[in-house]
Amino acid sequence: MPDLSRKPLRQFSLADRLIQEFDRGLRVVTLQRRTVSAAYPAAAMTDDDLSLQESLESARLMRVNHAGEIAAQGLYHGQALTAHNQETLRQMESSAQEELNHLAWCETRLAELQAPRSLLSPFWYSSSYLLGATAGWVGDRWSLGFVAETEAQVEHHLDNHLGLLPQADSRSRMILEQMRDDERRHGEEARKLGAHELPKPLKKIMMLVSKGMTSGAYWI
Ligand SMILES: [Fe+2]
Ligand SMILES: [Fe+2]
Repeated sequence: MPDLSRKPLRQFSLADRLIQEFDRGLRVVTLQRRTVSAAYPAAAMTDDDLSLQESLESARLMRVNHAGEIAAQGLYHGQALTAHNQETLRQMESSAQEELNHLAWCETRLAELQAPRSLLSPFWYSSSYLLGATAGWVGDRWSLGFVAETEAQVEHHLDNHLGLLPQADSRSRMILEQMRDDERRHGEEARKLGAHELPKPLKKIMMLVSKGMTSGAYWI
């Protein structure tokens, strides 16, 4: 009979790590109290007087942004898992932490609009996690290039949403403007750490994937 007490500790660490990763993902996709490091951008604003139609449209747009932040958590967690060096790992972990602010703000805004989150949240998280882990596995500079490109596309997307939001919805506008500034900085930080420029076809594929997510979360 094998002596289980002599089993290498590493095997248990791996199991612990998997459970930890699963637990982390579960916390992202289920409603939890989030520990945030920045105040809600719309906190000091008075309530908006939105018509039912405006409120429905804002809710759909904010659901898309909330789904994007769920995906951001998946990407950063996946990239942190397979990061090759400590500096990249630290960068991915601290970005994920900062992205939690965005996630919490979108959740608060959805609650204010009395709108549900995307039902596909577990799918947005897990597919992004796999994508992030693959990017990290390829190499740190490619992984950072993936961050830089993702953030550039998100920045562009947020600009687009700022144009689509109902005029009267200044609370959502305030949140999206703050998020856009943060995403721009995340992209700059990744470039400073030596991000590789991604090939054009890959950028195109990323755009198509995010389009699919945007349309999916708008309705479901
Ligand atoms: Fe974000
Ligand atoms: Fe970001």
